[in-house]
Amino acid sequence: MNPEVHIRDASAEDLEHIRILMSTYFLDIEGVPADRFAVAEAKGRIVGAGAIVNDTFPEIHSIAVHPNYRGRGIGTSLVNYMISRIPDISYVYARTASPVFFEKAGFVETDPSIKARLWDDCAECDISNRCRQSVMRLDLK
Ligand SMILES: CC(C)(COP(=O)(O)OP(=O)(O)OC[C@H]1O[C@@H](n2cnc3c(N)ncnc32)[C@H](O)[C@@H]1OP(=O)(O)O)[C@@H](O)C(=O)NCCC(=O)NCCS
Repeated sequence: MNPEVHIRDASAEDLEHIRILMSTYFLDIEGVPADRFAVAEAKGRIVGAGAIVNDTFPEIHSIAVHPNYRGRGIGTSLVNYMISRIPDISYVYARTASPVFFEKAGFVETDPSIKARLWDDCAECDISNRCRQSVMRLDLK
């Protein structure tokens, strides 16, 4: 990763910038508190962000890198940083339309039928047979 890029925990002041970045890709971060996010900063600007939540199970909730900064290892560094911030984590899930990125970070695609058991919105979804989101899992121990 470019040395000018710095990964750190997000602060409340970062949330609006994170929201704008996520909206580039139509990613909704409504209800996710600032302390769940990590950000990638370059030249004083937020160029990447991701959130890990751990309410019922650990999950990469969202991740995005600014279009001008993609393909430089920032997304992978954010994933590794977020995982390192959760103590005693033994696995993590991600629900995503970008499975190749997660595969390259070591995740393995799981049976999609698990979606309805893990996520309430999937359980209630009546178009799940047409869903293009993959469920990825990384085992850490
Ligand atoms: C997914 C995303 C965060 C990856 O960030 P990034 O900084 O570009 O990722 P990296 O540079 O760490 O990429 C690591 C590897 O994954 C690959 N990769 C990255 N994004 C990819 C994608 N969307 N599809 C396929 N491969 C991808 C890279 O080519 C790279 O491969 P390599 O190691 O063989 O060179 C970024 O592409 C993005 O913001 N996408 C739009 C939002 C999104 O889809 N988020 C995920 C769902 S929540």
